[in-house]
Amino acid sequence: MRSAERLHPAMTVNSTILVTGGAGFIGANFVLAKVGERNDVVVNLDKLTYAGNLENLATLNGNPRHVFAQGDICDRALADRLLAMHKPRAIVHFAAESHVDRSIHGPGEFVRTNVNGTFTLLEAARAHWQKLDTAARDRFRFVHVSTDEVYGSLDADDPPFTETHPYAPNSPYAASKAASDHLVRAYFHTYGLPVVTTNCSNNYGPFQFPEKLIPLTLANALAGKPLPLYGDGRNVRDWLYVEDHCAAISAVLDRGLPGQVYNIGGRNEIANIDIVKTLCALLDELKPSADGPYARLITFVKDRAGHDRRYAINAHKIARELGWRPAETFSTGIRKTVQWYLAHPEWIARVQSGKYREWIDLNYGEVA
Ligand code: NAD
Ligand code: DAU
Repeated sequence: MRSAERLHPAMTVNSTILVTGGAGFIGANFVLAKVGERNDVVVNLDKLTYAGNLENLATLNGNPRHVFAQGDICDRALADRLLAMHKPRAIVHFAAESHVDRSIHGPGEFVRTNVNGTFTLLEAARAHWQKLDTAARDRFRFVHVSTDEVYGSLDADDPPFTETHPYAPNSPYAASKAASDHLVRAYFHTYGLPVVTTNCSNNYGPFQFPEKLIPLTLANALAGKPLPLYGDGRNVRDWLYVEDHCAAISAVLDRGLPGQVYNIGGRNEIANIDIVKTLCALLDELKPSADGPYARLITFVKDRAGHDRRYAINAHKIARELGWRPAETFSTGIRKTVQWYLAHPEWIARVQSGKYREWIDLNYGEVA
């Protein structure tokens, strides 16, 4: 892994992708898949907020196909420089503030990164794209990774969200993502920028920051701490294994049509209480506690403000048009996930202690 300012990989330009937020949970899984399996070159622009962790990409250390640039997507000059230097065939935009609870406590950073940051990237992409020759302009893609939360909350009997479901965001996080989706849409209709938007359900898997339900539950259970469930624990989410989400984004990148929106989901509608009970049962099997079943730690706490009751995704369009389907069922994906967290106690410990921030200096020296 080298500084973007010092390295221009001697690879064909057509295999280069600019990924934003590639040190976060989904972004890191995507970068690992792209560099590891497909031999693409990834230029990874990430600010390394609390959620960005270069340790997630440690296996790419020294790999010239991964070029890391620490920086802010709100920095237009940096975006211009990276685009001019690396001439990527696409931008895959993950960078965002992503945690609903944090958006309730401090919405400002969500507006700055998710709205202004996306706007800045769109402007940089537009300026870059307009200078390309016709063939390169036709090939270029701006893939915007968004969320099902923009659609709001469903009642128990409502059909799952389709791509034409009206927007009704209910948290500052969801509203900031909705705003970014609208800007992306406008850049297609107004300027013809070849954008594609994905709206995905809840992801789970390796490298997820332990502020989100599944890794928080696992980390707390292993530490013998309470497992907090908001409200009555009956809110429903649709869960998708992160590698399946990354495969869907690859399909969209390769075959998605400009201006289109694709919903991505796992067909796994599960109530939070059942998620936590499943995790407890897997831990009872794989790492039993001398103090008794982990479910003893389940604790109901005050509900999240404005807590959406149910999300569900209709993913027929991406299946029909791009041939994507999830490879994992919930039971196979969640078992892999529990096994990964059990096999990486040091990753959890360094994230929780903040030591992962020292990883950059320790392992890479002066990166950027
Ligand atoms: P994450 O919080 O784990 O990672 C976000 C990454 O973006 C971090 O590496 C962080 O350092 C980086 N970042 C934040 N602000 C930045 C800025 N101003 N400039 C550059 N980099 C910045 O998020 P995640 O869960 O991996 O989500 C990635 C994307 O996928 C987000 O856009 C999110 O809205 C979307 N999404 C997430 C889920 C999910 O379940 N996690 C589901 C659907 C969609
Ligand atoms: O739907 C996609 C979204 O999924 C993404 O856009 C977001 O970036 C991602 O964070 C996720 O949002 P959620 O709010 O659904 O995820 P979270 O893991 O925070 O919460 C999942 C459910 O569990 C939700 O109903 C709230 C509940 N919960 C969460 C935490 C952290 C609890 O009951 N207790 C908790 O401690």
